Amino acid sequence: MATVRRAPMQLPIRIRLSISYFVIFSVAGVLLCCAAYFMAQRSLYIALDHDLDEHVDDVHDFFAAHNLANDIDRARVESAAEFELKDDGKWLQIADEQGRWIYRARRMLIAPHDMPPASTLPPKGSFIEFGAGAKKVRALRRAFKLDDHTLVVETGSTLTKTDQTLLDFRNGLLLIVPAVFLMAGFAGHVMSRSALTPVAAIAREAQRIHEGNLKNARLPQLKTRDELAHLSATLNEMLERIESGVRSVRDFTAYASHELRTPVAMIRTEADLALQQPRTNLEYREAIEVIGAEAQSMSALLDGLLFLARADAGAEQVQLEPVDARRLCAQTCEKCRRIFQRRGIDFSARLSPGRVMVMADAPHLQRLLNIVLENAAKYTPAGGRVELTLESAFDSARFEVSDTGIGIPLMDRPHIFERFRRAANARDAHVNGSGLGLALAAWIAAHHHTQIEVVSDVGAGSSFSWHLPLVSPPSLPAETAPAQEELLLTRFRS
Ligand SMILES: Nc1ncnc2c1ncn2[C@@H]1O[C@H](COP(=O)(O)OP(=O)(O)O)[C@@H](O)[C@H]1O
Ligand SMILES: [Mg+2]
Repeated sequence: MATVRRAPMQLPIRIRLSISYFVIFSVAGVLLCCAAYFMAQRSLYIALDHDLDEHVDDVHDFFAAHNLANDIDRARVESAAEFELKDDGKWLQIADEQGRWIYRARRMLIAPHDMPPASTLPPKGSFIEFGAGAKKVRALRRAFKLDDHTLVVETGSTLTKTDQTLLDFRNGLLLIVPAVFLMAGFAGHVMSRSALTPVAAIAREAQRIHEGNLKNARLPQLKTRDELAHLSATLNEMLERIESGVRSVRDFTAYASHELRTPVAMIRTEADLALQQPRTNLEYREAIEVIGAEAQSMSALLDGLLFLARADAGAEQVQLEPVDARRLCAQTCEKCRRIFQRRGIDFSARLSPGRVMVMADAPHLQRLLNIVLENAAKYTPAGGRVELTLESAFDSARFEVSDTGIGIPLMDRPHIFERFRRAANARDAHVNGSGLGLALAAWIAAHHHTQIEVVSDVGAGSSFSWHLPLVSPPSLPAETAPAQEELLLTRFRS
């Protein structure tokens, strides 16, 4: 068996798939961790900012409840009493519109900074962050109006707790990431393995298939109902087609050699007999005649075989063009006339009047007519009748060759167009033949987009007919037609 040279392999698909899965899972995992971290950070800051906003509201409510906006001295005293001991007053400072302090927590003095004028602050306030010793503070500055006075409030909260929570969360995520990588690697390996195990099984089986075991060897039938199952089913169908192709080539060779052996043996025997001892001229003539007849049937057989071989190889061309079917039939009848006469068969032709232009390949159509007429001549005993009819109907021409011959048994009828197939009664009648003629005829008909129909009755006769599309309606004037038709009818009667 010839060994196939393979190109140097890339990384196996299994490894490439594993790597791809690993990369995809890892990237997805890392992106998920990052997204979780940023969402947590955002939520914590939103909650913190909300608290700060509420602190400013509380200051507003306190000033409003105690009517402190008009009296700065009372406001200073009451604010100190209210906020000094409160936790949310630790990072609080309040000033009036002139920038005078109303309340300033002592802690604020670690990182003292002035308040901006109320007019520069947006209505919802603005957030700032500043360092106070080792701590980071996030603060909201907001102004509000009360009794025609504008107060600016800054309230803050350390970020220690928030930052610690985020740090813990980040550390947790950093612990998860290696686990994500491990899981991605494992999942990639498992998924690529399970996806490709059937492929390996198919490849293993496919490697075992060769010309010798083609008949029984098939790929495993997968039950997965997925693309791989479809692939193996498709490959099995292809194997079946290849097997039938190989079988038909084998049969073809076997039949062809068998069919050729008989005439070759006849020629050899006849020549040997003739040469064994001196013969009269007449005896030599008879021997040469037998040899000539066998050579002729051999050459017809070879001709058929070559035609089919060319047709199988796609080398046989069919070119459809307008052909005068009436002329072609008339010429064919002229050529066949002698054969029918010699065999004592009454041959007539009934050809439609005028030109009958059909789309056909003239040499192939001629060959098809010859095959069918030759069969009619072969399978019709002396005294019988054969008729060729060409009639044009609405948009097609109908060809028919009918005879009063031996007919074709019902069980053989479906097979007569197969190569080397001959009906039992044809063999029994010792009529020479190879069984290739109708196979050629069927090929020609198929390439003219038509089909040969057979009607037959054993002992009564057969008729072979087919249609071809007309190019244009018959062009000869109708009154000239009967005369021509009559002419043809009489000419071929024996
Ligand atoms: N006109 C006919 N009358 C009876 N049998 C026919 C006729 N034409 C074809 N057959 C049958 O079809 C078979 C196949 O025909 P064909 O392919 O031309 O092979 P063959 O070389 O035997 O003529 C013949 O062997 C014969 O049994
Ligand atoms: Mg034949």
